[in-house]
Amino acid sequence: MYTTRELQDAILKLKKENDVCILAHAYQSHDIWEVADYVGDSYGLSLQAAKADAKTVLMCGVRFMAETVKILSPEKRVVLSHPDAGCPMAEQMDVPMVTQLKEKFPGYAVAAYVNTTAELKTVCDVCVTSSSAVKVIRNMESRDILFIPDGQLGKWVAEQVPEKNIRLFHGGCPTHVRVSAQELKRAKADHPGALVLVHPECLPEISAQADYVGSTTGIMDYAEKSGAAEFIIGTENSIVQHLQYACPEKKFFPLSKDCVCHNMKLTTLADVYRCVAGTGGEEIVLADEVQKKARRCLDNMLKYGG
Ligand code: 13P
Ligand code: SF4
Repeated sequence: MYTTRELQDAILKLKKENDVCILAHAYQSHDIWEVADYVGDSYGLSLQAAKADAKTVLMCGVRFMAETVKILSPEKRVVLSHPDAGCPMAEQMDVPMVTQLKEKFPGYAVAAYVNTTAELKTVCDVCVTSSSAVKVIRNMESRDILFIPDGQLGKWVAEQVPEKNIRLFHGGCPTHVRVSAQELKRAKADHPGALVLVHPECLPEISAQADYVGSTTGIMDYAEKSGAAEFIIGTENSIVQHLQYACPEKKFFPLSKDCVCHNMKLTTLADVYRCVAGTGGEEIVLADEVQKKARRCLDNMLKYGG
């Protein structure tokens, strides 16, 4: 039986010996954060992916994130921490659906949330993440934009960038859309002095009542820098725990007990151990054509997102 600390020490030793860089999404558990070389939101992870210099990059998160690393660092061996960790939203639209939309709306540019498959990115013009979306959409040349697949994020972005003509579709994150206005009412009643910080994947009626709307790291930065002492957190509940480590003197309450992403939760510290030992995870392999075409979409995000 290993202790958490012993397993972490074994991971740190192996990642050095085997030249592995560990990237972890903010929703990963705290024991994984502690062995990662970089922890962040999807945009931060994309920036790291483009400049990672180890032979192998281990992505602790979900499949579209590992695919993004592979597209931006094609020469690297990229491993997804758990083969079954997918994002249900990334499967909501496929190439024929988007091709049909493009035919129906000629002249529109297609902006895809990064939570999409590599294959889908091949028929889109630009990617966005929750933290880069407003800037990317504002900086795009096209005024007419099809925003896929997250209708909640899209509506929030459209409100910030009214000069663009944005068409939305009915997709979204099953974890975040579960958060209800009733839960928000109850949380506010229970913690009347707390600020409400939510992810833009939440329903519009939730975002409209928040003190801050932003990405996972945006929420963390806001809470850490704020002078307030209590916060209601409307995103995956791991962020509540990470914030408690970051600011033990402040209080953090989950907006909903059900805001749990089971895909993000699949990866354990033992999975990370097996991945750095070379016996776990799944190596991401993408067809050259997919890699090349999808890259344009991500390069455009980095160009417009600055
Ligand atoms: P961030 O880009 O804010 O990290 O969001 C990714 C995600 O999947 C949120 O559900
Ligand atoms: Fe996908 Fe939602 Fe999980 Fe994020 S929280 S990875 S959008 S299912």
